[in-house]
Amino acid sequence: MAADFARLRSGIGTQAVVGWAQCLPPGASILDIGCGTGVPIASALWHRGFAVHGIDPAPSLLAAFRRNLPAAPAACEAAESSGFFYRQFDAAIAIGVMFLLPESSQRALIHRVGQLLHPGGHFLFTAPCQTCRWADSLTGRPSRSLGDARYRQLLADAGLALAGGFVDEGANHYFHARRPGTRETLDSAP
Ligand SMILES: C[S@@+](CC[C@H](N)C(=O)[O-])C[C@H]1O[C@@H](n2cnc3c(N)ncnc32)[C@H](O)[C@@H]1O
Repeated sequence: MAADFARLRSGIGTQAVVGWAQCLPPGASILDIGCGTGVPIASALWHRGFAVHGIDPAPSLLAAFRRNLPAAPAACEAAESSGFFYRQFDAAIAIGVMFLLPESSQRALIHRVGQLLHPGGHFLFTAPCQTCRWADSLTGRPSRSLGDARYRQLLADAGLALAGGFVDEGANHYFHARRPGTRETLDSAP
């Protein structure tokens, strides 16, 4: 289904994510979890000077990501088992991904994002605000949003705080969370 997904992926959400990225420092490192082909989201961020890294478990989508962003580090890995390049990031994004995972994997992913962000780092992911279940329109696979209250709790458990949210032109809801602190504090510590 990767070819169908790549063909059908519209530009929806690109301007919303690019607008959100203005909260990041210039050249910030961004981990794109479930990056797909890298078009349109990772590509838009890359061309605005961000150091995008991508992971995705679908070999054909990851191959397309490598073709579209040949200089961006990429790994064919699932979020549940990825080493996430064994480093920390200024930001992580998961666009159209979180709700594809079972609840236990969503919880584990949010926890791991809490660990991989620098202090002051940002996390952006899409999921409906309300608790709901549906069949993914392309794959038919079960999808589920844990809802605003549960995501707030899971983010707090992971050391992250919900910083806000917004909706794009396709009515997709984005959760924006932050890890408290500032990187300067960490870097200047004795
Ligand atoms: C709807 S697509 C979104 C792709 C991309 N983020 C975008 O906005 O175009 C969902 C992506 O999540 C990936 N994915 C599915 N299960 C995953 C997992 N366990 N870990 C990481 N990515 C996953 C899929 O391979 C697919 O590329």
